[in-house]
Amino acid sequence: MEIEFVSPGAVEGEPLSAIAAPAFENQTLSAAAEALDGLSGGALSRAMGSSRFAGEKDQTLDLVAPAGLHAARVVLVGAGARGKLGDLGVERLAASAYHAVKTSGVSTLELRLGDLSDEQAARAALGVRLAAYRFDRYRTKERPEKKPSVVKVRISCTDPAAAAAAFEPLAALGDAVSFARDLVSEPANVLYPQEFARRVKSLEELGLEVEILGEAEMTELGMGCMLGVGQGSIRESQLAVMVWRGAADPKAAPIAFVGKGVCFDTGGISIKPAGGMEDMKTDMGGAAAVAGLMHALAGRKAKVNAVGVLGLVENMPDGNAIRPGDILTSMSGQTVEVINTDAEGRLVLCDAIWYCQERFKPRAILDLATLTGAIVVALGDELAGYYSNDETLASNLAAASTSEDELLWRMPLHKPYDKKLDSLAADVKNITGNREAGSVTAALFIQRFVTNSAWAHLDIAGTAWKAPPGSPTIPEGATGFGVRLLNRLIADHYEGR
Ligand code: BES
Ligand code: MN
Ligand code: ZN
Repeated sequence: MEIEFVSPGAVEGEPLSAIAAPAFENQTLSAAAEALDGLSGGALSRAMGSSRFAGEKDQTLDLVAPAGLHAARVVLVGAGARGKLGDLGVERLAASAYHAVKTSGVSTLELRLGDLSDEQAARAALGVRLAAYRFDRYRTKERPEKKPSVVKVRISCTDPAAAAAAFEPLAALGDAVSFARDLVSEPANVLYPQEFARRVKSLEELGLEVEILGEAEMTELGMGCMLGVGQGSIRESQLAVMVWRGAADPKAAPIAFVGKGVCFDTGGISIKPAGGMEDMKTDMGGAAAVAGLMHALAGRKAKVNAVGVLGLVENMPDGNAIRPGDILTSMSGQTVEVINTDAEGRLVLCDAIWYCQERFKPRAILDLATLTGAIVVALGDELAGYYSNDETLASNLAAASTSEDELLWRMPLHKPYDKKLDSLAADVKNITGNREAGSVTAALFIQRFVTNSAWAHLDIAGTAWKAPPGSPTIPEGATGFGVRLLNRLIADHYEGR
């Protein structure tokens, strides 16, 4: 999709375009909408008055363009209370306008959203980009009229050149979110560990350093837990290491991100029930978010040193698979008794985190994982649970979460539950043996592998995938959750310091 910034009135509409303008609560028109209303002899206010459109957020009223306007359609977009539209509001407004006309047949969408600041105009562009994401690679028979017709979005704003400049880092972010969404959407027969690694390797084009370790290297390193998870799969496990050096001092300690990349989670020998098992193609959502973040940092040339480590495996039942009761030796040296082979994410993370700490000595380490069904029960699909051993990191995450509307809820690392992970046969077992506080005990398991660095764990099992209907900027399906959040965390708290 092409995005263009223009001064108000620079283009007088065109036959195959839709013009979108805001309206506020109680059916009051914005200045931009009033101008259109004037040109069309009051047709817009009449249409609005005879409809249920009230100007509330996310509401739209899509009309055939009245005589007097050089356009095919006009869309009134609800903006809520006048003057209360923040950056996120502009994104959402633009996204709603896009959805109202995306399959109407128009090829251009003109956004006349009023006197937008450069940043807001750029945000409108991001909103449309995020809204227009769809994963249709495997749909060979979709009827043409179901496909989006809009190919160009024109945004009027006070300073088009400045808006275009402000859009550059946001365009990088949008590309990164799409990259992460694609990874999560791909089925596991296409996106297995080596294919995931190949896609990550291709990010070298952006200036990232990418290393891929295979099973031989991981054996050498002693990553028995991570390798144990993958040993029932015919696909080779991979560890992807991505490095971005953007800080003034390329040797300064990086901030590190570790992602769970279980390309498919059958549960292994502790096999999952059939119903809904197809969703387990998304069990690499943590790795996808980290890869997306690294894409964003490189794409906008962030002034920070960051590393991303992805543990890429497939969890399958097989003659060679790990069994309940097996004892694995992690890279840290701690032995782990596997009580349930479906609690595999923590086995992947414990080695990936250890490797990351040993090699990079990061200033802070964050892991992202679709780790537990328990967090979905607790928080649903709109909030991710997070855990942290560091108050500054925790409050920075909370602030970033609010700024980007990727919602987080802090969960407790409740120390007394930790002893439930003690094993009779090994140093630790991978589950407690009951479901109580399942997301908490999973976090406590991971904490046993965290040295004394500032650490946060994000359980994104609920938020990586959105059931229909989705929201304006997050269509149903893969959300890319985490990319925006972490990109903001870095921009606001780690960049240039
Ligand atoms: N990948 C799942 C968690 C999950 C559940 C992700 C729902 C996305 C949606 C994880 O590997 C898992 O199977 N967890 C088990 C842990 C249990 C065996 C202690 C769970 O949550 O049931
Ligand atoms: Mn599992
Ligand atoms: Zn899993």
